[in-house]
Amino acid sequence: MPLLNRQTAEPLSRLRCIACGANPHSAGQDFRCTACGDLLEFFYPGWTSDRPDPAALKSLWLKRRTSSEALDQSGVWRFRELLPHIPEEHAITLREGNTPLYSLPQCARATGVENLQAKHQGMNPTASFKDTGMTFAASSAHQQEFRWVACASTGNTSASMAAYAARGNMHCLVLIPDGKISWGKLSQALDYGALTCQLRTDFDGCVRILNELVRQKPVYLLNSVNPYRIEGQKTAAIELMEQLGWEPPDHIIVPGGNLGNSSAIGKALVEMHELKLISRLPKLSIIQAKGANPFYRSVREFGGKKIEAMTADTLATAIRIGNPASWKKALRVLQATGGEVEEVTEVEIATAKAEIGADGIGCEPASAVTLAGLKKLRRSGFVKASESVVLILTGHLLKDPDFTIKFHRGDLFRGTPDEGEAAQAKYLQRAPVVLDADLGAVIGALDAAEKN
Ligand code: F0G
Repeated sequence: MPLLNRQTAEPLSRLRCIACGANPHSAGQDFRCTACGDLLEFFYPGWTSDRPDPAALKSLWLKRRTSSEALDQSGVWRFRELLPHIPEEHAITLREGNTPLYSLPQCARATGVENLQAKHQGMNPTASFKDTGMTFAASSAHQQEFRWVACASTGNTSASMAAYAARGNMHCLVLIPDGKISWGKLSQALDYGALTCQLRTDFDGCVRILNELVRQKPVYLLNSVNPYRIEGQKTAAIELMEQLGWEPPDHIIVPGGNLGNSSAIGKALVEMHELKLISRLPKLSIIQAKGANPFYRSVREFGGKKIEAMTADTLATAIRIGNPASWKKALRVLQATGGEVEEVTEVEIATAKAEIGADGIGCEPASAVTLAGLKKLRRSGFVKASESVVLILTGHLLKDPDFTIKFHRGDLFRGTPDEGEAAQAKYLQRAPVVLDADLGAVIGALDAAEKN
């Protein structure tokens, strides 16, 4: 792939500060603008004078799907023309991306949206959407010859980082909030060989420590303030458009935590629109848990002019984040696409999760905010029955089995103020039935289930 634009010899990609517009040649250890301290992003000056041909790109990407080359088989690197250049010998890939787009017939009926689909990013190698950004950012760490990579995480980033670090022969340091991440995610980091530190704080506290650490030690920061993460995560939206025959849906709905994913998907939509790969922009809406809703409040209460950090609390531990780093990027894509922001309650999340499960798909709690949010957006009239909707499911059901088991046993909200509201979701609960090893008892259970 050419590093320079053929006619103008401009680099294809460059870094830019999202606030002051400074163009640093490289990023510091904390990926902040040295002039004003805000976040950096990649942009592509080469596209202005030497715009890639959309039809040629589409056919190239399609052709790569039949290739046996590792990079072509990755659902991230397959789209490398829309990413900064990283030499192939540094690419660390687990064949991430290539995730399915499923219909959700029961959820469609329940929400009254006929054309409802879910892109399941939980079907990635480490079972969350993080792999699409991690393959790219870990490769950049490898290219820069870092021995150590590090992240603060609610669990999925750390699982993903640990896997890619192991594949790339790098050491990795994980900072996670003690007791507030699921066992599934913690066990992944351990098995992939991470140095895992459980800090007695929350996610935001882990981020603070890590930001200090990278200023003192030569470790490469792999949180989503790293713009390589955002570029890799863009490919989920590119792949989605390809799956839809380049015919965009009316709405895309994503969960919002640290707001890297929404920023990445929105960036991809805007870029694809500029490059004429798609003819119109879908509305990108962002949903937060009510107990971790700083972005919702920023938009609704302060018109996006500021954000107030909060102490976050939600059973959807993946998005238990009170001070989202990428809020300005997310705000920009919300405005560019005309999307909405919503908040949903704990019971709404648990109910939506079981409904997605009942369609035979399943996801982790943070992903289910998308369906819960869609119901609200339907009620407000923002999403119409005739419009097409794609939910981005970010993590696999098996990431957090504790939540699921407690929900089905009726224990999730027992003794909490939500217990009354949770009774409405009883019809979705399927607690296991403990029986004697007796044929008659099993037949009795079968008959009882048939009657219900
Ligand atoms: N869904 C899941 C399953 C997540 O793990 C996360 C974030 C989000 C949604 C929110 O995405 O932060 O880009 O807005 N998890 C991070 C982590 C913070 O450390 O694994 P976001």
